[in-house]
Amino acid sequence: METLEAIRKRKSVRKYQQRPVEKEKLLKILEAARLAPSAKNLQPWHFVVVTDQKVREGIARGTIYARFIKDAPVLIVGCGDPRSKFYQIDVAIALQNLVLAATDLGLGTCWIGDFREEKVKRLLGIPDRLRVVALVTVGYEKEGLDISRKVLHTFRKRKPLEEMVHWERF
Ligand SMILES: Cc1cc2nc3c(=O)[nH]c(=O)nc-3n(C[C@H](O)[C@H](O)[C@H](O)COP(=O)(O)O)c2cc1C
Repeated sequence: METLEAIRKRKSVRKYQQRPVEKEKLLKILEAARLAPSAKNLQPWHFVVVTDQKVREGIARGTIYARFIKDAPVLIVGCGDPRSKFYQIDVAIALQNLVLAATDLGLGTCWIGDFREEKVKRLLGIPDRLRVVALVTVGYEKEGLDISRKVLHTFRKRKPLEEMVHWERF
Protein backbone atom coordinates (compact mmCIF):
# COMPACT_ATOMS: atom_id res chain seq x y z
CA MET A 1 0.00 0.00 0.00
CA GLU A 2 1.21 3.47 -0.81
CA THR A 3 1.73 5.83 2.12
CA LEU A 4 -0.94 8.20 0.83
CA GLU A 5 -3.37 5.33 0.45
CA ALA A 6 -2.79 4.28 4.07
CA ILE A 7 -3.29 7.88 5.22
CA ARG A 8 -6.56 8.07 3.29
CA LYS A 9 -7.79 4.65 4.42
CA ARG A 10 -7.07 5.10 8.11
CA LYS A 11 -10.10 5.77 10.24
CA SER A 12 -10.93 5.31 13.88
CA VAL A 13 -12.16 1.75 14.43
CA ARG A 14 -14.21 1.22 17.58
CA LYS A 15 -15.74 -2.21 16.89
CA TYR A 16 -13.39 -5.17 16.82
CA GLN A 17 -13.49 -8.87 16.04
CA GLN A 18 -12.29 -11.13 18.85
CA ARG A 19 -9.70 -12.57 16.45
CA PRO A 20 -6.24 -12.05 17.96
CA VAL A 21 -3.62 -10.01 16.15
CA GLU A 22 -0.68 -12.04 14.85
CA LYS A 23 2.59 -11.50 16.75
CA GLU A 24 4.44 -10.81 13.45
CA LYS A 25 2.04 -7.98 12.67
CA LEU A 26 2.44 -6.53 16.16
CA LEU A 27 6.21 -6.62 15.76
CA LYS A 28 5.93 -4.89 12.37
CA ILE A 29 3.83 -2.02 13.69
CA LEU A 30 6.08 -1.64 16.74
CA GLU A 31 9.05 -1.51 14.39
CA ALA A 32 7.31 1.35 12.52
CA ALA A 33 7.03 3.18 15.85
CA ARG A 34 10.68 2.49 16.62
CA LEU A 35 11.78 4.12 13.36
CA ALA A 36 9.98 7.41 14.07
CA PRO A 37 11.95 10.64 14.29
CA SER A 38 12.40 12.29 17.68
CA ALA A 39 13.92 15.51 18.99
CA LYS A 40 17.70 15.07 19.38
CA ASN A 41 17.02 11.43 18.49
CA LEU A 42 16.37 10.84 22.19
CA GLN A 43 13.66 8.24 21.46
CA PRO A 44 12.03 9.04 24.80
CA TRP A 45 9.33 6.40 24.47
CA HIS A 46 8.11 3.08 25.78
CA PHE A 47 5.20 1.06 24.43
CA VAL A 48 3.26 -1.34 26.63
CA VAL A 49 1.41 -3.98 24.59
CA VAL A 50 -1.66 -5.13 26.49
CA THR A 51 -3.76 -8.11 25.43
CA ASP A 52 -4.96 -9.29 28.84
CA GLN A 53 -8.76 -9.00 28.93
CA LYS A 54 -8.99 -8.19 32.64
CA VAL A 55 -6.40 -5.44 32.42
CA ARG A 56 -8.10 -3.93 29.37
CA GLU A 57 -11.42 -4.00 31.20
CA GLY A 58 -9.79 -2.20 34.11
CA ILE A 59 -8.44 0.54 31.85
CA ALA A 60 -11.79 0.87 30.02
CA ARG A 61 -13.83 1.10 33.23
CA GLY A 62 -14.74 4.61 34.21
CA THR A 63 -14.02 6.10 30.80
CA ILE A 64 -16.71 7.69 28.64
CA TYR A 65 -15.17 7.54 25.18
CA ALA A 66 -12.98 4.49 25.53
CA ARG A 67 -15.28 1.70 26.68
CA PHE A 68 -14.38 -0.26 23.55
CA ILE A 69 -10.87 -0.87 24.93
CA LYS A 70 -12.34 -3.96 26.57
CA ASP A 71 -13.33 -5.39 23.15
CA ALA A 72 -10.16 -4.54 21.23
CA PRO A 73 -7.74 -7.49 21.26
CA VAL A 74 -4.70 -5.26 21.68
CA LEU A 75 -4.07 -1.97 23.44
CA ILE A 76 -0.82 -0.10 22.92
CA VAL A 77 0.05 2.30 25.72
CA GLY A 78 2.39 5.07 24.59
CA CYS A 79 4.62 6.35 27.40
CA GLY A 80 7.10 9.19 27.29
CA ASP A 81 10.02 10.39 29.36
CA PRO A 82 9.35 14.03 30.37
CA ARG A 83 13.08 14.69 30.74
CA SER A 84 12.90 15.22 26.99
CA LYS A 85 11.19 18.55 26.21
CA PHE A 86 9.39 17.17 23.17
CA TYR A 87 8.36 13.81 24.57
CA GLN A 88 4.66 14.26 23.79
CA ILE A 89 5.34 15.13 20.17
CA ASP A 90 7.82 12.27 19.83
CA VAL A 91 5.47 9.68 21.29
CA ALA A 92 2.63 10.97 19.10
CA ILE A 93 4.72 10.69 15.94
CA ALA A 94 5.76 7.15 16.86
CA LEU A 95 2.17 6.14 17.58
CA GLN A 96 0.98 7.59 14.28
CA ASN A 97 3.71 5.60 12.49
CA LEU A 98 2.32 2.54 14.26
CA VAL A 99 -1.25 3.43 13.26
CA LEU A 100 -0.36 3.86 9.59
CA ALA A 101 1.62 0.62 9.54
CA ALA A 102 -1.36 -1.13 11.11
CA THR A 103 -3.63 0.28 8.38
CA ASP A 104 -1.19 -1.03 5.80
CA LEU A 105 -1.45 -4.51 7.35
CA GLY A 106 -5.25 -4.49 7.31
CA LEU A 107 -5.66 -3.70 11.01
CA GLY A 108 -8.02 -1.17 12.54
CA THR A 109 -6.87 1.30 15.20
CA CYS A 110 -8.20 4.11 17.34
CA TRP A 111 -6.34 6.80 19.23
CA ILE A 112 -7.51 7.22 22.80
CA GLY A 113 -7.04 10.22 25.01
CA ASP A 114 -9.76 9.29 27.48
CA PHE A 115 -7.85 7.43 30.20
CA ARG A 116 -6.94 7.86 33.83
CA GLU A 117 -3.18 8.07 33.84
CA GLU A 118 -2.60 6.98 37.44
CA LYS A 119 -4.82 3.95 36.97
CA VAL A 120 -3.11 2.93 33.71
CA LYS A 121 0.30 3.32 35.36
CA ARG A 122 -0.71 1.28 38.38
CA LEU A 123 -2.32 -1.53 36.36
CA LEU A 124 0.68 -1.82 34.04
CA GLY A 125 3.54 -1.15 36.46
CA ILE A 126 4.70 1.90 34.50
CA PRO A 127 7.46 3.72 36.44
CA ASP A 128 6.59 7.03 38.14
CA ARG A 129 9.18 8.93 36.11
CA LEU A 130 7.26 8.28 32.86
CA ARG A 131 4.03 9.86 31.57
CA VAL A 132 1.31 8.11 29.61
CA VAL A 133 0.83 10.16 26.44
CA ALA A 134 -1.88 8.26 24.57
CA LEU A 135 -3.35 4.83 23.98
CA VAL A 136 -4.11 3.11 20.67
CA THR A 137 -6.40 0.13 20.23
CA VAL A 138 -5.45 -2.40 17.54
CA GLY A 139 -7.43 -5.24 16.00
CA TYR A 140 -9.45 -6.47 13.07
CA GLU A 141 -12.49 -4.32 12.40
CA LYS A 142 -15.88 -5.83 12.98
CA GLU A 143 -17.72 -4.87 9.82
CA GLY A 144 -21.46 -4.51 9.64
CA LEU A 145 -24.09 -2.26 11.04
CA ASP A 146 -22.71 -0.03 13.72
CA ILE A 147 -25.38 2.32 14.99
CA SER A 148 -22.82 4.70 16.43
CA ARG A 149 -21.15 4.84 13.01
CA LYS A 150 -23.63 7.41 11.66
CA VAL A 151 -23.00 9.68 14.60
CA LEU A 152 -19.28 9.11 14.54
CA HIS A 153 -19.18 9.79 10.81
CA THR A 154 -19.80 13.46 11.49
CA PHE A 155 -16.62 13.51 13.55
CA ARG A 156 -14.71 12.32 10.50
CA LYS A 157 -15.39 15.42 8.44
CA ARG A 158 -12.37 17.57 7.75
CA LYS A 159 -12.19 21.32 7.38
CA PRO A 160 -11.33 22.45 3.84
CA LEU A 161 -7.68 23.13 3.06
CA GLU A 162 -8.40 26.84 2.51
CA GLU A 163 -9.41 27.17 6.14
CA MET A 164 -6.08 25.92 7.45
CA VAL A 165 -3.40 26.64 4.88
CA HIS A 166 -1.80 30.04 4.58
CA TRP A 167 0.57 30.44 1.68
CA GLU A 168 3.61 32.54 2.55
CA ARG A 169 1.84 34.56 5.31
CA PHE A 170 -1.01 33.82 7.71
C1 LIG B 1 -5.08 12.49 20.61
C2 LIG B 1 -6.37 11.81 20.22
C3 LIG B 1 -7.22 11.36 21.22
C4 LIG B 1 -8.41 10.69 20.87
N1 LIG B 1 -9.18 10.17 21.87
C5 LIG B 1 -10.26 9.43 21.53
C6 LIG B 1 -11.01 8.77 22.56
O1 LIG B 1 -10.71 8.85 23.74
N2 LIG B 1 -12.07 8.02 22.18
C7 LIG B 1 -12.44 7.89 20.85
O2 LIG B 1 -13.41 7.17 20.58
N3 LIG B 1 -11.74 8.49 19.86
C8 LIG B 1 -10.66 9.24 20.17
N4 LIG B 1 -9.92 9.83 19.18
C9 LIG B 1 -10.30 9.64 17.77
C10 LIG B 1 -10.93 10.90 17.15
O3 LIG B 1 -12.24 11.06 17.64
C11 LIG B 1 -10.92 10.74 15.62
O4 LIG B 1 -9.59 10.62 15.18
C12 LIG B 1 -11.57 11.91 14.90
O5 LIG B 1 -12.93 11.97 15.24
C13 LIG B 1 -11.46 11.78 13.37
O6 LIG B 1 -12.04 10.56 12.94
P1 LIG B 1 -11.18 9.47 12.16
O7 LIG B 1 -10.02 9.08 13.05
O8 LIG B 1 -12.11 8.29 11.92
O9 LIG B 1 -10.70 10.08 10.89
C14 LIG B 1 -8.76 10.53 19.50
C15 LIG B 1 -7.90 11.02 18.50
C16 LIG B 1 -6.72 11.64 18.86
C17 LIG B 1 -5.78 12.10 17.76
